[in-house]
Amino acid sequence: MLIAKTLQLTLAILKPDVVKHPYIVQEIRELILANKFYFVKSKLMHLTKLQAAEFYKEHDGKFFQGRLINFMTSGPIWAHILARENAIEEWRAMIGPTKVLKAFYEAPESIRGRHGLTDTRNCTHGADSEKSARREFQLLFSDFISDQWYEEDEEYFRKGLVTFDSVTFQHMPVKNNSKHILR
Ligand code: RTP
Ligand code: MG
Repeated sequence: MLIAKTLQLTLAILKPDVVKHPYIVQEIRELILANKFYFVKSKLMHLTKLQAAEFYKEHDGKFFQGRLINFMTSGPIWAHILARENAIEEWRAMIGPTKVLKAFYEAPESIRGRHGLTDTRNCTHGADSEKSARREFQLLFSDFISDQWYEEDEEYFRKGLVTFDSVTFQHMPVKNNSKHILR
């Protein structure tokens, strides 16, 4: 018997260095769509220092922590919940290595290889595990309940039964009920 593969969710951030340049935002978004990710949630936000420190808590006390928090709060970011098979690994592969020179030389086609400025100003973030992704959803999308999404929406996304709203930059499941409402 064939078992349908479930989609995996991940958290993506377009960091302030990228959001400053709308054409790079557009390029990255097109790349995400071309790589068959769905945008489940999208939000433009400006992190406070407290939020940034909590988000990057694993880096507490590291030499680059202050620099990282100053950078992440230096301007608006786009936060996205993305869905795809193997989304966590695939999105991190698209991002490329953390260090800008490594990205430039070893993964020149990656997002950081193409647009990374420094080891800190490196374009995008990707959750590194399902556990991290859930924690990050709670911090940035507190009203999003991933268990509920899997129960109510995942099947529609997996089957491609979605429409894309370019204003909110989100895919929406097309359910029979909503067809009635639209009419
Ligand atoms: P991210 O969490 O943002 O997806 O990045 P990552 O996993 O590739 O790298 P991580 O080690 O988690 O570092 C988080 C972010 O901290 C900044 N950083 N600056 N030497 C430095 O100046 C330095 N090292 C890290 C980067 O913005 C990095 O993405
Ligand atoms: Mg990380």
